[in-house]
Amino acid sequence: MTKNEKLNGWVKEWAELCQPDSIHWCDGSEEENQMLMDMMVKNGNCIKLNDDKRPQSYYFQSDPSDVARVENRTFICSVKEEDAGPSNNWSDPAVMKDTLRPLYRGCMKGRTMYIIPFSMGPLGSEISHIGIEITDSPYVVANMRIMTRMGKAVLDILGEDGSFVPCVHSVGAPLQPGEKDRKWPCAPDIDNKYITHFPETNEIWSFGSGYGGNALLGKKCFALRIASNMARREGWLAEHMLIMGITSPRGVKKYFAAAFPSACGKTNLAMLIPTIPGWKVETVGDDIAWMKFGEDGRLYAINPEYGFFGVAPNTSMKTNPNAMLSCRANTIFTNTALTPDGDIWWEGIGYDIPEGSITWTDEKYDPASGKPASHPNARFTAPAGQCPVIDSDWENPRGVPVSAILFGGRRPDTLPLVYQSFDWNHGVFVGSIAGSEVTAAAIGLKAGVRRDPFAMLPFCGYHMADYFAHWIKIGETAPDKNKLPRIFNVNWFRKDAGGNYLWPGYGDNIRALKWIFERLEGADNAVETAVGYVPKPESIDISGLEGIEKNLPELLKVDRNEWLAETELVAGHFESFGRKLPEELKKQFSDLRSRLDRIQ
Ligand code: GTP
Ligand code: SPV
Ligand code: MN
Repeated sequence: MTKNEKLNGWVKEWAELCQPDSIHWCDGSEEENQMLMDMMVKNGNCIKLNDDKRPQSYYFQSDPSDVARVENRTFICSVKEEDAGPSNNWSDPAVMKDTLRPLYRGCMKGRTMYIIPFSMGPLGSEISHIGIEITDSPYVVANMRIMTRMGKAVLDILGEDGSFVPCVHSVGAPLQPGEKDRKWPCAPDIDNKYITHFPETNEIWSFGSGYGGNALLGKKCFALRIASNMARREGWLAEHMLIMGITSPRGVKKYFAAAFPSACGKTNLAMLIPTIPGWKVETVGDDIAWMKFGEDGRLYAINPEYGFFGVAPNTSMKTNPNAMLSCRANTIFTNTALTPDGDIWWEGIGYDIPEGSITWTDEKYDPASGKPASHPNARFTAPAGQCPVIDSDWENPRGVPVSAILFGGRRPDTLPLVYQSFDWNHGVFVGSIAGSEVTAAAIGLKAGVRRDPFAMLPFCGYHMADYFAHWIKIGETAPDKNKLPRIFNVNWFRKDAGGNYLWPGYGDNIRALKWIFERLEGADNAVETAVGYVPKPESIDISGLEGIEKNLPELLKVDRNEWLAETELVAGHFESFGRKLPEELKKQFSDLRSRLDRIQ
């Protein structure tokens, strides 16, 4: 079906194994999309929403077993176990392929095999990479069309001998002749789901799940787990980061990238509406950044994606109007609630649930049940171009120059609102010890704080300690060390003794960004502490914010005992990496310990 023999041969091989009823090469056209959506409506996989409320948008409910990423079924199949490291599940690639091949045999019977050519990054950009996803899920096709540049144009770029990352996906639910399909086909037994990566051969094989990062293989599987391996080999960075432009009242514009774990606020920060006058935020990306040095010696970032796969709950016209406007039309909603007038609803959308609404489990909503109407990991898939504040350079193939890198997570204590690292290597240390309370973005995690270095714990496709070393090396080999981004840590989630957030968050986060911005411009706005540079209380602009002044001491506090407890946890975290932990990080750790010891 193309002039690319390698691609044709690969598709033929998988068609023989999976035995679909037919093969469809996706061209990415409007007509094709409409045909697939009409088919899914007809088959009962989804509902078309009311065009007056939510034009050209569709509503899906997943199988209750298939609502998020499955970290314990995600594998890095490097040849050597040591290359996957202690934070990844590992399997020998040949053994994993022998396990999976029988599962794939005949797995697409009764279904169509779709071939999705996609580009991560702008079409034809030097930084971009092409993937081809084989899937038996039209839902995946429709989502990939929003999340990536997809279709015929990609095949044209691939040409006769272009290379691509081969991605295989099946929901793992073949149909017998005459059997009616389920609303959300998948392999409901968790042990039959496999999200596998072969870093040495750049291959992805996914089986059994139809949801998000398990199934839209361009996203976490390619743009992070495989791309982190490519980046390590080639000297660049593939990161779980938003990218945002910030313009000051004086018209100076800077770009920040920020790594927070899943469901910890990237989409919200990327498109926030500042609550202080004169400041402007524009969005380049909300989840993934690929970063390389430019000719001028600065670090440049591109967003390899084309859409947002955003957390729905608590998104409202108050908390994140730009996300609400991004999903006003042409959007796919998954696991939200459905209202009787054909619109969607979720907890925290900003108004009461309409009478007669249906929950994500397809039941009439009953407030007395105590169960939410939408799943906590309910998502919208919306075209990035629909974001009212999308940055004019968001598709610039050269990317945007990054001035600051932020780490963060949900930390009810210990971590101040914002602080700056002393230098690049200390910043790498700050990223390496990052942690967060776990969220609903992955299935089966134990509640509480876990270490999530660089927000990459579930996404780093190789040994995490080698990844730390790669970050240190990026600093060492930078064309101009003075032009490296400065590294900060932020925490919007510190709580008081009563469990209430001390910081209002959302649009008010601009106040912490302003402090960072001014710091980059050389302001004398910080005090040096054992952990890094922390704002002088008066340097955080809280104008117009009622009642926050009294919280500032707690928000900016660096408490010796809390930090000593933190270093105990970090010690265990670092021990897990064994001899691979870079000496530099051991030194950073002991330096922190001795700085803490010097506090009275
Ligand atoms: P992924 O798409 O899973 O990678 O998540 P994300 O990092 O983009 O998180 P997102 O911005 O979608 O936020 C997740 C949840 O955190 C949503 O329910 C938000 O409403 C909430 N949230 C985001 N920012 C803030 C904040 O500043 N303060 C508080 N309290 N909650 C926030
Ligand atoms: C995340 O979990 O970080 C996400 C959602 O962005 S998913 O695509 O499911 O990985
Ligand atoms: Mn994410």
